[in-house]
Amino acid sequence: MSTLKGLQDIVAAQTAISDIDGKLGKLWYAGYSIDDLAEHSSFEEVVFLVQNIRLPDQPELEELTERMVNEREAADFIVSLMPTLAEQTSPMSMLRTSVSAASAYDPDGWDQSPEANYRKAIRLISLIPTFIAYYDRNRKELPIVEPNPKLPHAANFLYMLTGEEPEQRAAEIFDTIFILYADHTMNASTFTARVVASTLADMHSAVTAAVAALKGPLHGGANEQAMRMLEEIGEAPRADAFVRDLFERKQLVMGFGHRVYRNVDDPRATILRRLSKELGEAAGDTRWFDISEAVEKIVREEKGLRPNVDFYAASVLHYLGLSTDLFTPMFSAARAAGWTAHIREQYSDNRIIRPDSDYIGPRDQRWVPIEEREHVVAS
Ligand SMILES: CC(C)(COP(=O)(O)OP(=O)(O)OC[C@H]1O[C@@H](n2cnc3c(N)ncnc32)[C@H](O)[C@@H]1OP(=O)(O)O)[C@@H](O)C(=O)NCCC(=O)NCCS
Repeated sequence: MSTLKGLQDIVAAQTAISDIDGKLGKLWYAGYSIDDLAEHSSFEEVVFLVQNIRLPDQPELEELTERMVNEREAADFIVSLMPTLAEQTSPMSMLRTSVSAASAYDPDGWDQSPEANYRKAIRLISLIPTFIAYYDRNRKELPIVEPNPKLPHAANFLYMLTGEEPEQRAAEIFDTIFILYADHTMNASTFTARVVASTLADMHSAVTAAVAALKGPLHGGANEQAMRMLEEIGEAPRADAFVRDLFERKQLVMGFGHRVYRNVDDPRATILRRLSKELGEAAGDTRWFDISEAVEKIVREEKGLRPNVDFYAASVLHYLGLSTDLFTPMFSAARAAGWTAHIREQYSDNRIIRPDSDYIGPRDQRWVPIEEREHVVAS
């Protein structure tokens, strides 16, 4: 039996939610190109799209938007947990715990009907920004900012973080990042969510597991690591030496490389590069964009690797004023749209996901009593 390490190229599910052409560098949600969606859609519309595999008409979009606004408030139970979580845990650990804890007060309880699961999906997508903002305000010892029902999803998230209504362009760009991060086929966290859902465990369990998978630096954690690298580099002329040193020490350059986009640009990175430049110029401080470009140049030249979504997301989110350790939670807030869509898709045509393994351990061992066992101690 042959083993493909990391399940590379293994088709693990059928999905109508998103599709990637790794050779052409294209990404579609339910057949719509990411470029069109980033240009013309809103996150709310994309939530409808990935959940229903079609775009909404006007009344449907209004109904979903209203539902998302109405689901933004966290249960008292979570609010009361937040000071402890803010003091004791990292933002992603808080999120993993909060999503799990939210199951206790979900109005649909343990109802696993398709209708209840749709409501749970929309509820979780709506709630995650609230968890993150409450956590952030708590740890900064700032008063909690209640959700603003007049603001769209992404703008409201910025508002709850800062206490100020964002400027229109900042809100639009944040909304675009939500769209870009919303889904991405069988990435590690989505696969995790589908594995958990395939056991017929509930939606909150599957999303909790997905948050846990996203936390790692090889997946969602890369955007935070990329920002820390930009900060360490400090100025564009230092990028070359910094990156060469990383290569010499056989370290990864975070935010580069991709399992699917091999010799082609990640289309999300192309959009984010443009937005990073725009935000830098608008702020009169292109330092983070300049360092990013310098890093990209040397990594491309030396390794032929291209930036993935997380690399330019780092400078964009920084320009938008997010604390670096909220970048991966922000990614979760957006990816919740895709996770919950995949979980519902898995439930709708389920077979437990249970792959095989290739045994490489010893065989034909003879059991002996403990006092007769002799172990070879590694020197
Ligand atoms: C995304 C990632 C996990 C994909 O992993 P993968 O498909 O297993 O990639 P591979 O290990 O096959 O990469 C091929 C080669 O490029 C190298 N490479 C890949 N990404 C690299 C990076 N970011 N920096 C330096 N070298 C890298 C690998 O070490 C490997 O080299 P080798 O052939 O000498 O062993 C990997 O590129 C990575 O760790 N990137 C950094 C983390 C990151 O940005 N994650 C966010 C993903 S959206």
